[in-house]
Amino acid sequence: MLERKHPDQTQAWKALSAHFESVKAVHIKDLFREDPRRFEDFSIRFEDILVDYSKNRITSQTISLLLDLARECGLEPAIEAMFSGQPINETEGRAVLHTALRNRTNLPVMVDGEDVMPAVNEVLRRMEHFSDQVVSGAWKGYTGKPVRTLVNIGIGGSDLGPVMVTEALRPYWQPGMNVHFVSNVDGTHLAETLQQCDPEETLFIIASKTFTTQETMTNARSAREWFLSHAKAESEVAKHFVALSTNSEGVAAFGIAPENMFGFWDWVGGRYSLTSAIGLPIACTIGFANFRQLLEGFHAMDLHFRETELEHNLPVLLGLIGIWYNNFFGAESEAILPYDQYLHRFPAYFQQGNMESNGKSVGRDGHPVRYQTGPIIWGEPGTNGQHAFYQLIHQGTKLIPCDFIAPAISHNPLGSHHAKLLSNFFAQTEALMMGKTPEEVKGELQQAGKSEAEIAKLLPFKVFEGNRPTNSILVRQVTPRSLGSLIAMYEHKIFVQGVIWNIFSFDQWGVELGKQLANKILPELDGDEIVDNHDASTNGLINAFKQMRKG
Ligand code: F6P
Repeated sequence: MLERKHPDQTQAWKALSAHFESVKAVHIKDLFREDPRRFEDFSIRFEDILVDYSKNRITSQTISLLLDLARECGLEPAIEAMFSGQPINETEGRAVLHTALRNRTNLPVMVDGEDVMPAVNEVLRRMEHFSDQVVSGAWKGYTGKPVRTLVNIGIGGSDLGPVMVTEALRPYWQPGMNVHFVSNVDGTHLAETLQQCDPEETLFIIASKTFTTQETMTNARSAREWFLSHAKAESEVAKHFVALSTNSEGVAAFGIAPENMFGFWDWVGGRYSLTSAIGLPIACTIGFANFRQLLEGFHAMDLHFRETELEHNLPVLLGLIGIWYNNFFGAESEAILPYDQYLHRFPAYFQQGNMESNGKSVGRDGHPVRYQTGPIIWGEPGTNGQHAFYQLIHQGTKLIPCDFIAPAISHNPLGSHHAKLLSNFFAQTEALMMGKTPEEVKGELQQAGKSEAEIAKLLPFKVFEGNRPTNSILVRQVTPRSLGSLIAMYEHKIFVQGVIWNIFSFDQWGVELGKQLANKILPELDGDEIVDNHDASTNGLINAFKQMRKG
């Protein structure tokens, strides 16, 4: 069982509150001036990944107090509890073992007295066999043509991870393979995708942990109808539909044979499932050897997280720095800004990872928390974001800690593109930290020949306070291995924060209410009867919809 200590009741929290008062006005640029070793002391190299957290509003005392907080909140035993398969997802009575899925050392991991590794390895072996057949063209469709197009039908954790990873690893796509992802129940998503598919060469991967999710089951049924309208015979479904799920009865009821189902377990959370069978579209797109490298990268970071002392532990430090801004500076959001087009879905992936995990307001003791928990996560790839929302980060009233991520080596070394991209990556974090003083602005305006009156008028608008905190994450190249490590680093950061905020990070009851109401409303949309059993706004909207759809 995890600790039930509210962090604001700890000694460390009190000490941090006092410390905050003494450092809140300190400028990061002054911290660099005072300490020539700041970069060395506040950066960590992990394999091909360099994490520089020196451009933060922290001192070594901040880190030391945050580490005290982590210890007082029982982080170390919590890490061990997760890795060793204890049922730390207490509201669902489950272990949390996504780390077992990529446990490449294969040491036993026990759940309820049973080692889960043989079952994990068996699913991986089947995924390897299947993806080899697909990639090599040996898996044939109903007219004997090899399957070349994959359509993954899933939503949330059964979609975002595979989308993000297949996009991030496009340079590794196997020749001839193509993959689409359909998630939205809006028929447009499926219809537009099917227009790009040849039924003879298309394999549908129905990805749903529960195999009951309305969006996924609706899309899956429509996809099967579309397929049968071409192939005609039910018996051909077996060549074109596979399922990734924990629900074998649901899969069988849908008409997918057991040999076409790849299973996983209730101890794999949806948003942590991309290294389970949910990764099959990844394996079929980049090939299993690359998928294995991805698992290796995850595992390397898992080991780092489990075995490294807290003061040098990347997910721990990143998690603690996040808490510093969230709970002491009052920052409401965090931006993830990848300077790599292939990583364009990385922020969206960790939006679910963070917000579904730590978007909670009840502590593990069942009482409401009296402090802030999970931040709002958002972001877009650089440099696009620079021309959209960076203005607010630089000069707005809100403090937005940002993670900048960039590869040193591009997969597309086109002229000067990468140098230009990276010059922006370096410039932004420098500008956010340094800002621009009134003296600097004045000097620039004088140089530009402005009069004193013009300078006085413009100056306040051109001054940048700076002191905007950032982490810079420089990766040698985005490879399956480095990507795996990067994802695991962010996953474990979420875990660290959830433990300290004293919340349960692995359930998602908040998603249920909307689902229940949608199921109640669905039959009310039939026919022309006036609906009057909701609040006035909802009644009014439903009745207006019924009128409008008449044309
Ligand atoms: O959004 C709620 C949720 O339960 C997520 O946690 C999950 O990833 C998603 O729905 C999809 O669920 P399933 O894989 O069971 O279809």
